[in-house]
Amino acid sequence: MDIYEAIHQRRSHRMYKPEMPPKEALDRVIDAALWAPSGVNAQAWEITVMAGKVRDDFVELVSRATKYLLPELEKAGVPEKGREFVMKFFKNLGGAPVVIAVTISKDADPGMQMANIQSGAALFQNLLLAAHAEGLGTCWMTGANYLEKEILKLLGKEDKQLLAITPIGFSAKEPPAPPRKGREVRWLGF
Ligand SMILES: Cc1cc2nc3c(=O)[nH]c(=O)nc-3n(C[C@H](O)[C@H](O)[C@H](O)COP(=O)(O)O)c2cc1C
Repeated sequence: MDIYEAIHQRRSHRMYKPEMPPKEALDRVIDAALWAPSGVNAQAWEITVMAGKVRDDFVELVSRATKYLLPELEKAGVPEKGREFVMKFFKNLGGAPVVIAVTISKDADPGMQMANIQSGAALFQNLLLAAHAEGLGTCWMTGANYLEKEILKLLGKEDKQLLAITPIGFSAKEPPAPPRKGREVRWLGF
């Protein structure tokens, strides 16, 4: 798949079919994620891929984030229908059979910590684009980070920082592309 096609066509998917994605496809997605650039090539990240009972336990924990999320959505002015959709999605992560969590190392130096976060984000975007190229849907999620402490405990990664999670699987419904806002791009000296 052409890189520009992948970038423009990737969407956040919130409804999934129950079929398991092929393990080989997941392997390729994880490999592509791990080829992301990282500050001082530290690669200070970990990926946890969950299916079956581990996935179910993880999703049950994540669903508890709705308690924190709902007031934020109200504050942001998200209409009731939208809030209901988000709540439903968080309850079972859209039924995705696989969930991926990315954690990063903590660094006492603020500059290095910033690099770790940005490196993790590069890994995450690689993962999303590669999944799209494999015909799989994903949804970058930080909404579950309200439960970071509990999630890290479940993952056995108490000394790390939770970057984000994503469900991954075959999409059950192609979502519309949310419009992009006007942006400032300055070309100086041309
Ligand atoms: C850092 C980050 C955090 C996000 N967290 C959530 C989330 O917790 N729940 C959710 O449903 N979508 C989440 N999203 C997905 C965005 O809502 C989505 O990317 C945006 O609406 C644009 O839609 P698109 O991805 O289909 O282009 C997140 C995206 C990013 C980049």
